[in-house]
Amino acid sequence: MKRLLLTGASGFLGWQVAGHAQDEWDVVGVTCRHAVTLPRGQISLTADLTDTAAVKHLFAGARPDAVLHLAALADPNACQRDPERSLAVNVTASVTLAGLCVEAGIPCVFASTDLVFDGRHAPYDETALPAPVNLYGEHKLLAEKEMRLRCPQLTVCRLPLMYGPPGPAAQGFVATALAAWRAGKPVRLFTDEFRTPALTGDVAAGLFLALRERPAVLHLGGPERLSRHAFGLILAQLAGVDPVLVQPCRQADVPMPAPRPADVSLNSRRAFTLGYHPRPAIEALRTLLGPPF
Ligand SMILES: NC(=O)c1ccc[n+]([C@@H]2O[C@H](COP(=O)([O-])OP(=O)(O)OC[C@H]3O[C@@H](n4cnc5c(N)ncnc54)[C@H](OP(=O)(O)O)[C@@H]3O)[C@@H](O)[C@H]2O)c1
Repeated sequence: MKRLLLTGASGFLGWQVAGHAQDEWDVVGVTCRHAVTLPRGQISLTADLTDTAAVKHLFAGARPDAVLHLAALADPNACQRDPERSLAVNVTASVTLAGLCVEAGIPCVFASTDLVFDGRHAPYDETALPAPVNLYGEHKLLAEKEMRLRCPQLTVCRLPLMYGPPGPAAQGFVATALAAWRAGKPVRLFTDEFRTPALTGDVAAGLFLALRERPAVLHLGGPERLSRHAFGLILAQLAGVDPVLVQPCRQADVPMPAPRPADVSLNSRRAFTLGYHPRPAIEALRTLLGPPF
């Protein structure tokens, strides 16, 4: 079996990627603050990827056949508040990993984001011009560019807003909203922010597809454009929650450190053609929720 170095294995997406790893891959997961036990006896190592010496040591020990780099400071507001940390985690560590992949002659797949786009020209395909409106998007775009300079064979996967089961260290929107609703609390959701949401498990399958096909850039959005409010209504309906608890609001009603683009829907036709089949929200959420709430 080939060995896959999976960074961000304790994260909301990484945990699902480890769970969906296909038989051809022997996963070595990397975590930082949250040591986790990965499924099926996969190895889990702890390292701070901003420590270059530690990354080199990790790489030399793991001797991977490919790298799937998901680790990030993935909260736009946290990036806006702490630009230095965002630069260190999202850019510098990513470039170090890309350089090590080139030296080892192995593929590198990088998880980027729909937030590299400005939100005014959706839907965005792989040829669209990125123009981020917040620091997280800026740093992910800088990582895309600097990593490619180091590693011309890099595969960049731009990911959409994701939902899915909670991981060991990350709850995600579905669990958080269900907990609030169970407590009788309303959840406020934007009517004027649009994305192409996808289930983490479906995106995980897309990442393995990217690892196989290795295009330069691949968008792994979901199949439909939804506002956060529309998504919340689908979830509430499936969970048998009173829609009154899904409260509409606008981006301008909720001031946040990071500016938010209006519509970063992805056009993922290239991935669909390659065999990426993310499910529509109603279908994916039905599977996720299981028997009626
Ligand atoms: N979630 C989304 O909707 C979304 C949308 C578009 C793109 N993405 C991208 O998808 C990827 C995964 O996102 P996610 O939501 O799964 O993120 P997440 O839940 O916040 O997880 C982040 C992961 O990165 C690791 N990490 C952070 N700093 C690190 C460091 N200095 N050294 C080593 N590991 C470090 C964390 O490890 P510890 O927890 O162990 O510290 C954790 O495993 C990211 O690249 C993100 O930019 C996510």
